[in-house]
Amino acid sequence: MTEKVVEPVIRIDHRGPLHGTVRVPGAKNSVLKLMAATVLADGEFNLVNVPEIVDVDIMADLLRSIGSQVDTGSDGSLRITHSGELSTSVPADLAGRMRASINLLGPLVSRVGKIEIALPGGDDFGLRPIDMHVAGLEAMGATCTFSDGVLTVNAPRLVGADIRFSFPSVGATENLVTAAVCADGVTTIDGAAREPEVADLCRFLVAMGAQIEGIGESTLRITGVPHGTLHSVSHRVVPDRIQAATYIASVAVAGGEVDMIDAQRNDMQMFLHRCTEMGLVFTDLDGIGVRATAPERLRSVDVQTLPYPGVATDYKPLVIAMLSVADGSAVVTENLYPGRFRYVDELQALGANIKMHEHHAEITGVQRLSGASVIAHDIRAGAALVVAGLAADGVTTISGVGHIDRGYDDLVGRLREIGVGISRG
Ligand code: EPU
Repeated sequence: MTEKVVEPVIRIDHRGPLHGTVRVPGAKNSVLKLMAATVLADGEFNLVNVPEIVDVDIMADLLRSIGSQVDTGSDGSLRITHSGELSTSVPADLAGRMRASINLLGPLVSRVGKIEIALPGGDDFGLRPIDMHVAGLEAMGATCTFSDGVLTVNAPRLVGADIRFSFPSVGATENLVTAAVCADGVTTIDGAAREPEVADLCRFLVAMGAQIEGIGESTLRITGVPHGTLHSVSHRVVPDRIQAATYIASVAVAGGEVDMIDAQRNDMQMFLHRCTEMGLVFTDLDGIGVRATAPERLRSVDVQTLPYPGVATDYKPLVIAMLSVADGSAVVTENLYPGRFRYVDELQALGANIKMHEHHAEITGVQRLSGASVIAHDIRAGAALVVAGLAADGVTTISGVGHIDRGYDDLVGRLREIGVGISRG
């Protein structure tokens, strides 16, 4: 007899303000890139503040599949060891499970001169091309071909190049920086992405012995160093600004006051600015985090997503959940992924008043949402539904929890700690 697999669900039945302290885990969108970049050097790497999320497990399996040793320690640490030969072929089934598998491209091409990798999977926001990654590698002397959904890159020797992006792609910046650190000569990337996670990767590479100028700025200058001069390091993963924002959004709709240990105010300034306009108050906790205090009711504020330092697209589902119960109407504009609105139907099922006009969402706040059964279609959509559930009368049941697990380290447990009526079953 085949055993029926029961999909987990999150159940929220909550009313009342939140209080307490939550520790913000390390960032998914940093740790995955750091893990990939370890292939640039032999030796034992030690990453700390690693979030316990499914995408980290997938990247660990990807690394094991090419010959690395990956051991998970207690207390959020990860030991990665490389010695000797690594495979040039990345298994398609693993690569297809998340977008960040493409981050192996730069480091592996740099180390082994050749890679075959299936096109990456990840959240479905519509088209997510990798033309900028490929064009950058070609400018550095690589030959790239696509066949049957597999990208093959040959680059026995990478040479420095002047690369100019028309859009600051996070993934392309990361791949070209990691490809350039051991290339012959100097590579410049104009119009580079400036996200805190990109800067974390650059600092990690510098600690390994790479030469990178302009970290956190839009022009990066990378001077190649010989292969073999990079070495393994220990590194603390930068805290996750999107997970921090999820706790801010939670307190924003439920009310109360929550201390977020490790939240980095500097990394989320534009988002915090918009939240302040909505009525939230933020207080520094002597350098160890940020306190968020909710107003009686949120005010509606227009928001548009932009590359860093703008309001990140990853915050947007949370912002729309907040605006669903704010006083007044607002328009949220998506400028990065026009298709990233798959959670709107689900928010509407909870009673949100949202009208879509192409890549603009017009939200008119209601006093309270009402509980229903809804589905999470991607990571941040799932988080937004959890936030909406805190503002709903009755029970909200969320399926598609596997998406949330890809990027959130014990979201349910952390919310319970600050008083949310939430369970998982
Ligand atoms: N783009 C191209 N060509 C390319 C690369 C990107 O046209 O070669 C376009 C994309 O189609 C998209 C835009 O540029 O419209 C942004 O793409 P980017 O390369 O900046 O994003 P990414 O590296 O694929 C990362 C995060 C996303 C986050 C975006 C934007 C990871 C693993 N993913 O994706 O995070 O939304 O940057 O900040 O780091 C999430 O964590 O939930 C998530 C989706």
